[in-house]
Amino acid sequence: MNNQYDQKQLEAAWSTGKAFVDRGRVAAYIPELAKQDPGQLGVSVCLPDGTFLNTGDTDVCFTLQSISKLFSLIVALCQNGPDEVFSRVGKEPTGDPFNSIIKLETIKPHKPLNPMINAGAIAVAGMIQGKGVEERLDSILDLLRKMTGNPDIRVNEEVYGSEKKTADRNRALAWFLKDSGVLTADVDETLDLYFRHCAIEVTAQEVARMGMVLAADGFDRCTGEQLFPQAIARICKTFMVTCGMYNASGEFAIDVGIPAKSGVAGGILATVPHRMGIGVFGPALDDKGNSVAGVKLLEQLSREWKLGIF
Ligand code: DON
Repeated sequence: MNNQYDQKQLEAAWSTGKAFVDRGRVAAYIPELAKQDPGQLGVSVCLPDGTFLNTGDTDVCFTLQSISKLFSLIVALCQNGPDEVFSRVGKEPTGDPFNSIIKLETIKPHKPLNPMINAGAIAVAGMIQGKGVEERLDSILDLLRKMTGNPDIRVNEEVYGSEKKTADRNRALAWFLKDSGVLTADVDETLDLYFRHCAIEVTAQEVARMGMVLAADGFDRCTGEQLFPQAIARICKTFMVTCGMYNASGEFAIDVGIPAKSGVAGGILATVPHRMGIGVFGPALDDKGNSVAGVKLLEQLSREWKLGIF
């Protein structure tokens, strides 16, 4: 057991975060997500030796949503290489909301600014190879099953169906990308893959383990397996710093200072290079779509444990 990181300090950070749950709202634009209890909050820390520190709702299942954009990117990079991937999606942050369409038209060429916004992640989904949607999804699920150590990781069909019925903005983004030549794959299949990978279900503890694999540059210390190349882990962590918290990424980099990726179901995956992975679940969101309590909790934890990388 690692004494360097104190369970009491984790609990104190959780309490600080908990005081903020009523300042946010659960995402309602995906109807199934509106059913989540906004009062929930959990934080799990995975250390290099595979031990966990847990507080609060760490075994409650939630969907990855935008956190999954990291793993579709890893698969696309492994299959196609960075030159091909970054010919269709950029490496620059955006000051716009995650589902914004505006820059797609105004910037030339019309490729999405980065793979962490919806347009960029849809372009990435279009690059994942495989026979049908199932086979392409399996390559993402296989990676996540290895990273979490849970062979039963699967899609939440209700959340998937709920997003599929209401995703007109994402459809608009995908058709624009098709028209611009960025997306060459079938639009409906690409969207289906995107909705499914967003609806993959995990717990905060599993997210912490995923964060630890990224912290160890793709190496899974539990199994001794290199799950993806170090260079790809480096690309992901850089995107997490510059784009992981959407148009709050700059603020988060200053206030917390660690690579992190959020999702609208309330999850945050944070990774402290070579030290730990952190999984947070708090479904009440701020106006930028990030867990309001989760951000406060991470702010305090980073201060107490001196986690900032800058
Ligand atoms: O495409 C969407 O809108 C969702 N499936 C994911 C968005 C998301 O998680 C943004 N996160 N903060």
